[in-house]
Amino acid sequence: MTTAEYSSKIKRVLITKEEIDAKIKEAGAYIDSIYDGRPILLVSILKGAFVFMADLCRAVSVPCEIGFMCAKSYYSGTSSSGVVQITMDLEQDIKDYHVIIVEDIIDTGRTLNDVVKLLRAREPLSLKVVTLLDKPDRRVVDFKADMSLFTIPDHFVIGYGLDCGEYYRNLPYIAEYDA
Ligand code: IMP
Ligand code: MG
Repeated sequence: MTTAEYSSKIKRVLITKEEIDAKIKEAGAYIDSIYDGRPILLVSILKGAFVFMADLCRAVSVPCEIGFMCAKSYYSGTSSSGVVQITMDLEQDIKDYHVIIVEDIIDTGRTLNDVVKLLRAREPLSLKVVTLLDKPDRRVVDFKADMSLFTIPDHFVIGYGLDCGEYYRNLPYIAEYDA
């Protein structure tokens, strides 16, 4: 792919870096107010949530550990196949933790529905979900996050951790992908 082809797929900026930063600051303050000094474990779902995780963890002031899981929902082009697989699990036993799952986007809801079931069965002290983006129009499984920073229409988006064919994760903003 040429650089021109690569860039031509970035249709338009949907959410700027400044808008993301402002919402993350608010989310960090909200998390601080809920946990009120109690230690938390932020669990990021790789790979898409790695950028959001890096910024969100620096916006909280309560004692905070971080953990990673890798969940793959297989994509053919820009639509989900419905198959969710945990390809890398957490290293921590979460029994003694207040856990917050940090996700990039909720689309059909299948990934988080599965991850939440899995982690709930491990009996953490508490379990909440924060997502950067939410596409409620696309839901197949009834799932609602505890915190959702932006609700977006049914567009395939890239940037700030989100990919198309593994590209565009490093864009500092969220853009609409020109399929
Ligand atoms: P769900 O299981 O359908 O809710 O989707 C979960 C995963 O699909 C997300 O964690 C993303 O990695 C990916 N995904 C869903 N929508 C988009 C999008 O618009 N752009 C990039 N990845 C997406
Ligand atoms: Mg993801």
